Amino acid sequence: MNVGELRDSHGRVMRDLRISITDRCNFRCLYCLPETEEAANFYRSRFDAVRNPKPFSLEPIRYEWKPRDRLLTYEEIERLVRVAASLGVDKIRITGGEPLLRRAVPELIARVAAIPGIRDVAMTTNGFLFARHAEALRKAGLKRVSFSMDSLDPSNFKKMTGRDGQAEVQQAIAQAQALGFAPVKVNAVVIRGMNDHEIEPLVDFARDRDLVLRFIEFMPLDSGHAWQRDLVVSGRELLERLRKRFDLVPIDARANPAETARRYAFADGRGEIGIIAPVTEPFCGHCNRLRVTADGRLRTCLFSLHEHDLMSLLRGGAPDAEIAARLVELVRGKEAGHRIGRADFVQPARTMSCIGG
Ligand code: 5AD
Ligand code: SF4
Repeated sequence: MNVGELRDSHGRVMRDLRISITDRCNFRCLYCLPETEEAANFYRSRFDAVRNPKPFSLEPIRYEWKPRDRLLTYEEIERLVRVAASLGVDKIRITGGEPLLRRAVPELIARVAAIPGIRDVAMTTNGFLFARHAEALRKAGLKRVSFSMDSLDPSNFKKMTGRDGQAEVQQAIAQAQALGFAPVKVNAVVIRGMNDHEIEPLVDFARDRDLVLRFIEFMPLDSGHAWQRDLVVSGRELLERLRKRFDLVPIDARANPAETARRYAFADGRGEIGIIAPVTEPFCGHCNRLRVTADGRLRTCLFSLHEHDLMSLLRGGAPDAEIAARLVELVRGKEAGHRIGRADFVQPARTMSCIGG
């Protein structure tokens, strides 16, 4: 079975498939799944009588998770990856929500890693539950792991993620390195007035430990729809600030044009950072990524307003060739790029916890 490759109408060929395996999360990052209305609107005063005549609620927001039988099973995910691999996908990232809330993730990793054509399996996690699964994940064939860690300060960490988990995440990072995961990456979403004072300490932390650090611009994907342009610290601003403290050496991007981060080494050879600036410097022109939600819908862009149901094909007895043909057809319609910053931009209804980074 090979009906070709996943080439879109703009000439881009898809190689990287990101699969969210659950929409649930044990964290409540305010840029994703804020705990309360107040957290969602963190930059406005709760008692701003003019704009908020009714103060924001401090009650936990009740998220509606997908029922378990609506999530792709590991068998279904394996099959989908096999079909995608036959069409040239060679890189898989397992995401969530928090992927480690699902049971037996190592089993899924092992199945996916064994599929011919898949040369790279990675995972994005908030790290809180990582320690107890780390060894099994490593044995199953997971090589690369990215942790989300926006703050080194336990109280600011709690403000941003809604949970007391800084120590656990740091410990998980250390353990991943001890077990030989490589690279171990740390993602930090930067929000003005929240954690932008921590960028230099985060760099020091990463350099001390030989971690790969990525700063990510705040994107309009928060469930609170509180995103505002002013809260984005642009990649350019980040770079200017970092250059004041560190001697940065750009890393040539030609080897991997689909790379989302602008990467920098340090003149003294220790560590590496990257700046991911989807808002102010879109990299859509080289995008080779596809996403599948936990409930089996294909998203051809993070900011897609439409999703394509693969679940009913997978559950409805469609043969592999039909699934492959559908993927080819859907990829052809991949959007040229996102429209953040344009007058007609519409924020997708789904947050990162459903879409998966
Ligand atoms: N903007 C930028 N990054 C986000 N993430 C989640 N929501 C947002 C957002 N609104 C990040 C997480 C994680 C990765 C999967 O995406 O911090 O590192
Ligand atoms: Fe935070 Fe990730 Fe959970 Fe969203 S899915 S709340 S970004 S840890």
